[in-house]
Amino acid sequence: MLVSAKEMLTKAKEGHYAVGQFNINNLEWTKAILQTAQELNSPVILGVSEGAGKYMCGYKTVVGMVNGMLETLGITVPVALHLDHGSYEGALACIEAGFSSVMFDGSHYPIEENIEKTKELVKITGEKGISLEAEVGAIGGEEDGVVGAGECADPDECKMIADLGVTMLAAGIGNIHGKYPENWAGLSFETLDAVQQKTGAMPLVLHGGTGIPADMIKKAISLGVSKINVNTECQLAFADATRKYIEAGKDLSGKGFDPRKLLAPGVEAIKATVKEKMELFGSVGKA
Ligand code: 13P
Repeated sequence: MLVSAKEMLTKAKEGHYAVGQFNINNLEWTKAILQTAQELNSPVILGVSEGAGKYMCGYKTVVGMVNGMLETLGITVPVALHLDHGSYEGALACIEAGFSSVMFDGSHYPIEENIEKTKELVKITGEKGISLEAEVGAIGGEEDGVVGAGECADPDECKMIADLGVTMLAAGIGNIHGKYPENWAGLSFETLDAVQQKTGAMPLVLHGGTGIPADMIKKAISLGVSKINVNTECQLAFADATRKYIEAGKDLSGKGFDPRKLLAPGVEAIKATVKEKMELFGSVGKA
């Protein structure tokens, strides 16, 4: 059964580790992430962007697929199905479809409007026991058409949003979606420290987990980050393994063209990436 992300993140914050949110794109992605979480006895959050939701034929299809897998694969670790960077309407649609967690990304609105819309969703999700992530300070880079400049959040605005009763809070600290440019200035730990001091026990979320060096990840966790989002890194690993398979001509030998064979190296690459991240984040054995 899908669970809200509240309990797993409260435990992570208290225990000084982070739970990974891994974005899914299709059946192979979902299965690979769930199997790895179960094997490592780790809680996990499956992230679905609005674009990925559309690609997978809508939120109801996603809920059906994930619930079916939890049962068939005998998954017993805590799993949250979470809307990533949702609009207000997208959040309502996911709640209706059976997601156990949603993010409302109001970071591009003026703070007053972000507060107003977040407040409404606190009420709706609260009644249903669904966890809610809010965002202050846009995350840089581009993800599914959502472009942000990578600004640092204002700690006072973070406190205003945290006080509304959200479950977890994403604060921009110079992080970027996708690959980091050569001249990236790194995470602003000063901002993160100030945000944590203002928001206390609130689990903080670090977006753009791809390519952040291990020492920065560890420091971010020590400063209150309890959820880390990873998307691009699984995509790169999948593409790389699939390209190697085809370049080696394996699809031309025997039944190598069978999608169950052709996609297998990519699936293994996703599993290896997820394992590496769970070990780094410290969530192994924490289910
Ligand atoms: P990356 O694609 O950079 O790993 O970011 C993922 C993310 O933050 C999803 O919200």
